[in-house]
Amino acid sequence: MIHYKTDEQLRLIRNAGRIVSGCHAEIAKRLRPGATTLEIDRFAEAYMRSHGAKPAQKGYKGYPYATCASAGDVVCHGFPRDVPLREGEIVTIDMVAELDGWMADSAWTYAVGRISPELERLMNVTKHALYQGIAQARAGKRIGDIGYAVQQVAEAEGYSVVDAFIGHGIGRRMHEEPQVHHTGKPGTGKKLAAGMVITIEPIFVLGDPHIHIDFDGWTARTADGSVGAQFEHTLAITDGEAIILT
Ligand code: MF3
Ligand code: CO
Repeated sequence: MIHYKTDEQLRLIRNAGRIVSGCHAEIAKRLRPGATTLEIDRFAEAYMRSHGAKPAQKGYKGYPYATCASAGDVVCHGFPRDVPLREGEIVTIDMVAELDGWMADSAWTYAVGRISPELERLMNVTKHALYQGIAQARAGKRIGDIGYAVQQVAEAEGYSVVDAFIGHGIGRRMHEEPQVHHTGKPGTGKKLAAGMVITIEPIFVLGDPHIHIDFDGWTARTADGSVGAQFEHTLAITDGEAIILT
């Protein structure tokens, strides 16, 4: 069942979202060559706690960290590591803050130092696809309209959508209905209505979108070793433009 949020509940999710976006802004300054994603994870946990929030990913289905940190052939749900980042890598940091019982979720891919034009383009196109998806996210449209918009960007630019991972409703729980696929057909799927709060979080890869999960049960790698980028916002559906909460 879909939980439609009241204005007061949207305000609470927005408060959680401010903590997530504030934390991302700080992480952006810290993700330099030589930094480790374990340091970033500790920073993010301390940031969330010092703002009165809980790192909702930590302990979620046994996930051991506050953030997911995904680099190289890991496209999402990677464990933070005690290994210095190298110039030229891209790394995705994903986190959920819970404040007063309400959650907000955002993932962002960062460049470590100077990166190749190829990776720069992958990042820019994936981010653009997120915003094209958000542009479709309004009352009266359908879930398939979001997926179609995202997929169109990938196809036009020669990337693949990793469809093993999808966006979701969010609120008191991290994962609520509806499921938000990043591929789809216009005019199909659940109808969007004011008060819904969802994430859109496309992952695009340079090569084949097939994924394997490591024996740790989390780390998601491309089967062919190709690199991915992911951008995710939590947003509220209205009768007009969506409100980005992260
Ligand atoms: N933030 C993720 C999402 O977009 C959830 C990651 S799984 C977790 O749905 F266990 F790390 F929380
Ligand atoms: Co997320």
